[in-house]
Amino acid sequence: MFKNFLSSITRNAMSLIGTGLAIASLVLIVCLFVMEQLGFEGGPYLGILTYLILPAIFVTGLILIPVGSVLYRRSLRKVPGGESTPLLPVFDLNNTKTRRWMVIFLGATMVNIVIVAGATYKGVEVMESVEFCGAACHTVMQPEYTAYERSSHSRVSCAECHIGPGADWFVKSKLDGAWQLVAVAFDLYPRPIPTPLHDLRPARETCEQCHWPTRFVGDKLSIKTHYDEDEANTELTTALLLKVGGLAGQRSHGIHWHVDPDVKIRYRSDETREEIYEVEYSHGNGESKVFRDRKAPENGGVWREMDCVDCHNRPSHNYQPPASEIDIAVQNGLIDRSLPYIKREGLRIIDAKYQSHDEAREAITAELTNFYSENYPELLAAKADTIASAATALGDIYSVNVFPEMQVWWETYPEHIGHERSDGCFRCHGRRLRTEERETISRDCDVCHSILAEREEDPDILTQLNP
Ligand code: HEC
Ligand code: HEC
Ligand code: HEC
Ligand code: HEC
Ligand code: HEC
Repeated sequence: MFKNFLSSITRNAMSLIGTGLAIASLVLIVCLFVMEQLGFEGGPYLGILTYLILPAIFVTGLILIPVGSVLYRRSLRKVPGGESTPLLPVFDLNNTKTRRWMVIFLGATMVNIVIVAGATYKGVEVMESVEFCGAACHTVMQPEYTAYERSSHSRVSCAECHIGPGADWFVKSKLDGAWQLVAVAFDLYPRPIPTPLHDLRPARETCEQCHWPTRFVGDKLSIKTHYDEDEANTELTTALLLKVGGLAGQRSHGIHWHVDPDVKIRYRSDETREEIYEVEYSHGNGESKVFRDRKAPENGGVWREMDCVDCHNRPSHNYQPPASEIDIAVQNGLIDRSLPYIKREGLRIIDAKYQSHDEAREAITAELTNFYSENYPELLAAKADTIASAATALGDIYSVNVFPEMQVWWETYPEHIGHERSDGCFRCHGRRLRTEERETISRDCDVCHSILAEREEDPDILTQLNP
């Protein structure tokens, strides 16, 4: 019974190849699937193989079988005397053989549908996985993936921010994704990947799935430890009371006032959103204002409605500036504070453009050793290990923030929270933008925070908090 079916799908070379491909890929899919169920960890590539590549080969094989059959019949018709061969097979249901053939065919088709549906489901899961987005096309996404792994969103999948729920964005992301695969395969992608993402899904539909925009945060105490660039690397403290605010009772205030459902802020800016030309603000209670930069171009630029991402533009890919990375490494004991001028020298050495991570590590070790041998020769032997670990820590800092292959340098992706790492809030808050009545968006130092201490040694606030 099977012999008849089998011979019908292997009668010509193309159908034979198709059958071979389908069977071989099916066997592999089943083996890999069973291995995965038994707990074998194969990394991102195994999922791609099992649920994307092999099923594609399987389907190709299945398609080759009927195509081969039609081509074969067509070639038979060209042979003298073969004109009577029908182009498509003839099914005579009175024939027992045909009926058996049909039963096997329908059975096989049902099994195929189950396999393809299962593989599609798992394939989508693979494509939405962090491994697929972040690790599979390694060099391209290495900067974003590395920063993501170190962020507070490292357990939120790429898809939850970049695709979000719903079928329309799902389809759109798959179309974009197909192009991205081509771009990666043929090396057509831009370096660095440009920011901001102009077609990022509105935060309302992504961030707000997890963060309630009207949640009242209130004031938030933020204490930052810095080290001075003097010989002793003096510890300095900055303490701010950030007025994050939000909606409390009837009205909202503070920083999260911008995302009150009644508040609508639109702005026109250049492509990078660093240069803001015009801001329109309107409130549900009828209040409205337009702030303009008189020197900005009258037309052109991009309009955008402000949402979470205009301040939190690096919720997950937050590359840190060199100075704060060194501060953190000193605090964590990775860099020994007793090394003279380690803050100043470390900063000088890593705030540079090395062409690869390896080159950076070598240069950092050489420069640091050189500095101490010239200025503190006695330390070079006494603290050889400490200097070596400081160099390693500086190399690590460089390697998780700078990606020469992707042209990602310290300044490539500016962060908009605050006003230290880029103009941030000051893109709007300041004297440049004015209403007709010459009113500005306030830049007073106590609008957004109370400064309890600014780069002070042992400020009172610390003793008050920790008596
Ligand atoms: C918490 C939300 C969130 C998660 C999770 C997330 N991203 Fe992003 N990503 C963003 C936002 C917001 C931007 C856009 C910043 C902008 O437009 O200014 C962005 C930008 C990007 C960019 C453009 C380059 C850049 O840095 O601006 C790439 C590429 C990217 N993300 C890849 C990924 C990958 C890969 C993952 C998973 C490993 C991921 N993202 C996870 C929010 C997220
Ligand atoms: C799938 C859920 C989820 C989504 C989507 C999500 N977040 Fe978060 N977010 C979290 C969780 C969970 C935390 C807390 C992490 C922790 O405490 O370590 C967090 C923390 C934060 C924090 C505070 C920590 C920090 O890094 O400063 C900010 C700000 C934030 N998210 C902004 C955003 C923005 C902006 C978006 C949209 C681009 C977003 N989140 C999307 C789950 C999510
Ligand atoms: C006007 C700029 C701005 C906008 C718009 C904005 N935020 Fe914030 N948000 C801030 C600042 C500033 C902080 C405090 C940052 C810090 O802790 O260093 C903050 C803090 C947070 C935190 C941490 C709160 C905590 O308890 O520690 C979360 C979560 C957050 N924002 C989510 C959001 C979400 C979601 C949206 C969009 C609905 C949003 N933010 C819109 C500026 C903004
Ligand atoms: C796109 C422009 C824009 C950006 C960027 C922006 N703001 Fe604003 N902000 C405004 C406007 C407009 C107002 C209302 C000014 C008015 O009514 O006079 C405002 C008002 C405020 C207020 C007063 C809210 C209240 O209680 O009434 C605070 C606080 C504030 N912003 C903080 C921030 C912080 C912090 C950032 C950066 C993380 C920031 N803003 C970034 C446009 C902006
Ligand atoms: C529009 C809101 C806004 C205004 C106006 C503003 N700041 Fe800030 N500032 C912030 C935010 C938000 C942060 C927190 C950044 C962060 O959490 O990384 C900050 C951080 C700081 C820090 C700490 C930097 C660090 O990392 O140690 C200092 C110091 C500071 N501001 C000083 C000032 C001074 C001085 C003024 C007046 C000229 C001012 N700010 C006006 C929003 C503002």
